[in-house]
Amino acid sequence: LAASAQLAAQGSVVPAQAAAAASLTILFGSQTGNARHVAEALAKQAQGKGITAKVVDMAEYKTSQLKNEQYLVIVTSTYGEGEPPENAIGLHNFLFSKKAPKLTGLKYAVLGLGDTSYEFFCKTAQDFDSRLTELGAVSVQARADLDVDYQAQADSWSTEVITKLEPELKASAAPSAQVIAWPGSDTTAGSVSQYNKQNPFAAELYTNQKITGRDSTKDVRHIEISLAGSGLSYQPGDALGVYFSNDAALVRELLLLTAIARDTPVAVGSATLTIEQALTEQLELTQSYPAFAEKYAAATGNTALADLAADKTALRAYLNERQIIDIVRDHPGLLSAQQLADALRKQQPRLYSIASSQAEVEDEVHLTVAVVRYDAYGQPHLGGASGFLAERLAEGEKVKVFVEHNNNFRLPQSDDTPVIMIGPGTGIAPFRAFLQERDARGASGKNWLFFGNPHFTQDFLYQLELQSYLKRGVLSKLDVAFSRDQAAKVYVQDKLRKHGAEVWQWLQEGAHLYICGDANRMAKDVQQALIDIVQQYGGKTADEAQHYLDELRVAKRYQKDVY
Ligand code: 2AM
Repeated sequence: LAASAQLAAQGSVVPAQAAAAASLTILFGSQTGNARHVAEALAKQAQGKGITAKVVDMAEYKTSQLKNEQYLVIVTSTYGEGEPPENAIGLHNFLFSKKAPKLTGLKYAVLGLGDTSYEFFCKTAQDFDSRLTELGAVSVQARADLDVDYQAQADSWSTEVITKLEPELKASAAPSAQVIAWPGSDTTAGSVSQYNKQNPFAAELYTNQKITGRDSTKDVRHIEISLAGSGLSYQPGDALGVYFSNDAALVRELLLLTAIARDTPVAVGSATLTIEQALTEQLELTQSYPAFAEKYAAATGNTALADLAADKTALRAYLNERQIIDIVRDHPGLLSAQQLADALRKQQPRLYSIASSQAEVEDEVHLTVAVVRYDAYGQPHLGGASGFLAERLAEGEKVKVFVEHNNNFRLPQSDDTPVIMIGPGTGIAPFRAFLQERDARGASGKNWLFFGNPHFTQDFLYQLELQSYLKRGVLSKLDVAFSRDQAAKVYVQDKLRKHGAEVWQWLQEGAHLYICGDANRMAKDVQQALIDIVQQYGGKTADEAQHYLDELRVAKRYQKDVY
């Protein structure tokens, strides 16, 4: 931690007059960094207007502060089935608990980020909004719930909020307004590269190696990329954002079905390019989303599709496993190139948990990528970024990347602290980074890894490396669950339960717990196993065990990177 960050953490960089003046607190609840970026941009806008603003990760926020706030903006995403992002769980729980204070002196605004493909779109933002009102706070601006393509609307919503708050906040602000650094912001986390999500670095692909066996049901790639010359740096726990080009054959088929000439010019944002370039580089083809079905139905005058799109539940079911091309194949029709471009949303970069430590690989970055490949509706399908990395990008060619910091998935501060890592499938990725880092640092803390996949002979990712770590004592324990190697399924949570007494013992010694991988089933089942272990070996009730895990989370001893 840089000295300035430590000072910021203690609050001692806040000048006395600024501390006394009314200031704006901006809290973000973020899983992938989007809400964090919006919060930071909002703070910069505020500063430009002479308002002092402070950006705080909800996981770092002292809930006892809440009753002292006068101006609060919350920017939050929603996750899974309407759940708060990991770093927002604590504040969300607190606000809905009996401990929540009356907030009659508070003026606030909430911005939601989400994905309209999901049923519980922006639920967490709605929760915060309605609960703050219930507690007596006054909303200064209507909540906006934004879809994946949020940037322009987030900017204008932020401008509106600042415009509304400016007269009150400026009157009491310090002469030189500032954005108060928060621990873990990019500016306190070390050097800042010129490359970021808006301006990605064109990085060379060094290695693309299949690390599952010939007979595996999965195609997992070990990817090595060079960051040389970028100034980009990362820590174990961070993710790499990856942009990609769509498959040329997919683009050709789409143009053929819509009878659009490939060189027809279209506008995407402020740029003009050919429809072929737009479809290849800029627009999202390998996911499907409700807005496309609606806009495409309207532009082509397809009433059958329009009727389907009018029923949200039916539409969600229809879109399952379909890509854009499937909708167009099902409902061929004519529309202009610009209408097609407008119906599609902008490509969002995919985030991959980084599988390496710079202490070991220096200016390289490694990823563990599961190739999304499936047959559906009588056709083969390939994922956007994973298909690009695995099949379309040759070694030596360039891929546009950026680093997305994740301060909510970090090794313990102390090298002596034991860690328990649960990472089945590609969930192994950040733990390879953790192990490289701890090895390079000569960390003395114990390391225990739980890994799982279908078959020992086909799917033991990084087997030789892990066995070598075990031999050398970097890994203290390695437990594997090969689910399909015997009649009854065996999963990582079964291995956890089997070693429950020892897991509890490690927790007593201060171990940190990490889960990475599938959010829908695995992470929930693992959490239940942990609750059961705490209950059984800690002699607690189910509620007490849940509370124990909540406290671990607040103490940053229980962290998840799940997707
Ligand atoms: P399966 O596919 O044989 O059911 C990585 O994907 C591993 O996670 C696989 O071995 C997979 O097993 C397993 N897995 C599937 N569902 C799981 C769950 N609910 N909890 C833990 N592991 C699971």
